[in-house]
Amino acid sequence: KPTKWKGIAEIAGISLMADTVDNWSQIQTFKAKPDDLLICTYPKSGTTWIQEIVDMIEHNGDVEKCQRALIQHRHPFIEWARPPQPSGVDKANEMPAPRTLKTHLPTQLLPPSFWTSNCKFIYVARNAKDCMVSYYHFYRMSQVLPDPGTWDEFFEIFINGKVNWGSWFDHVRGWWEIRDRQQILFLFYEDMKRVSKLLLRDHWQGSCLRNVSDRDVWKNRVNVKTRFHSPQCYLHPQDPKHEIQKVMQFMGKNLDETVLDKIVQETSFEKMKENPMTNRSTVPKSILDQSISPFMRKGTVGDWKNHFTVAQNERFDEIYKQKMEGTSINFCMEL
Ligand code: PPS
Repeated sequence: KPTKWKGIAEIAGISLMADTVDNWSQIQTFKAKPDDLLICTYPKSGTTWIQEIVDMIEHNGDVEKCQRALIQHRHPFIEWARPPQPSGVDKANEMPAPRTLKTHLPTQLLPPSFWTSNCKFIYVARNAKDCMVSYYHFYRMSQVLPDPGTWDEFFEIFINGKVNWGSWFDHVRGWWEIRDRQQILFLFYEDMKRVSKLLLRDHWQGSCLRNVSDRDVWKNRVNVKTRFHSPQCYLHPQDPKHEIQKVMQFMGKNLDETVLDKIVQETSFEKMKENPMTNRSTVPKSILDQSISPFMRKGTVGDWKNHFTVAQNERFDEIYKQKMEGTSINFCMEL
C-alpha cells in the first residue's frame, strides 16, 4: 500500500517535495564520482528525452538494452525520496560506475561533491513559455502536487517561482552562467526538436542570427535560396542528429551514421510516447493520472500560443527581459 505523500516544503526559498526536504542531509552529502554523468534540467524541459538519448548512446543504439528498465529506474533521480522506498541517493549508491544520474536542482542546491568530482553535466533548457504550459498540465495530472488552479492562477505561481524546483529564470540563468566553469554540455530543447535556424551572414555589417520556425524554413526554403542566394547567406538547420552527435562526442563515444540515425528514430516523440519504458504508463494513477493529461503530451515547440493571452504574453516578455537581463542566452521565444 503506498505511503501518503507529505506535500511540499522549502529549502532556501525553493519549493520541493517534503520527503526530499526531510532527506536533505543524505542528498547534500551524496558522493559524486568523476565518471558520473549528471542530466540537469528545469522540470518539463525534455529530461526524459535526453535521458533516453544518453542511454541509447551509452548502449550503442541497442534498443533491447534500453528496454531493460523504466527510464526513471535507469538513471537515479538524486533528490527523489519517498520512504520506505530506497531514495534516489540509495539507488545511485548501489549503481555500478559509470553512472548516469538525473536532477532538477538549481546550481545552489546541488550536492557539493558534484562540483569537486569533475564529473560531466548535460543541461537541457526549454523556452520558458512552453515549459510553463507543460508544467501546468503536469500539475493537473499529478496527484501528489498541489492543485494548479486555473491557467491564469498557475501563470502567477510560475512567474513568481513558486512551483516545485523554483523559478525557471533563476534555474536557467544559474546553469547558463557556470557553463564554462564545469564540463557542461548546454543544450536547447528547441534545437533538439529541429527548429531550424536561418543564419544570414553579412560580411559588411557583421553577422546576425535570426531564429525562424521549421515551418517557416520549409515554406520559405526556395524563396530564401532564390532571394538570398549569395556567398553571404546560407541555411544552417539544427536537427536532432546534430544535437545527438554533440551528446555522443561529449560522452566520448564514436558511433557510426547508421547507429545515429537509429537513435534519432527511437528517441522521436512518437516512439517514446508508445514506449512503456519512457511514457510513464506504469506509474499508478494515484500518482500520475494520465487520463487528465498524458505525460508524453504534445512534444512540440510553441504550444504556449494556445494558452497565453495577448496580455499574459506581453507581461511575460517584460518579466523575461528584467529577469534575464545581462545574460547572453538566446531563446526562440517568438516561434
Ligand atoms: S519531467 O517530469 O520534468 O522529467 O518531464 P520532462 O521529461 O523534462 O518533460 C516532459 C516534456 O518533454 C516532452 N518530451 C518530448 N518532446 C519531444 N521529443 C521527445 N522525444 C520527447 N519526450 C518527452 C513531453 O511531451 C513533455 O512536453 P509537453 O510539452 O508537455 O508535451
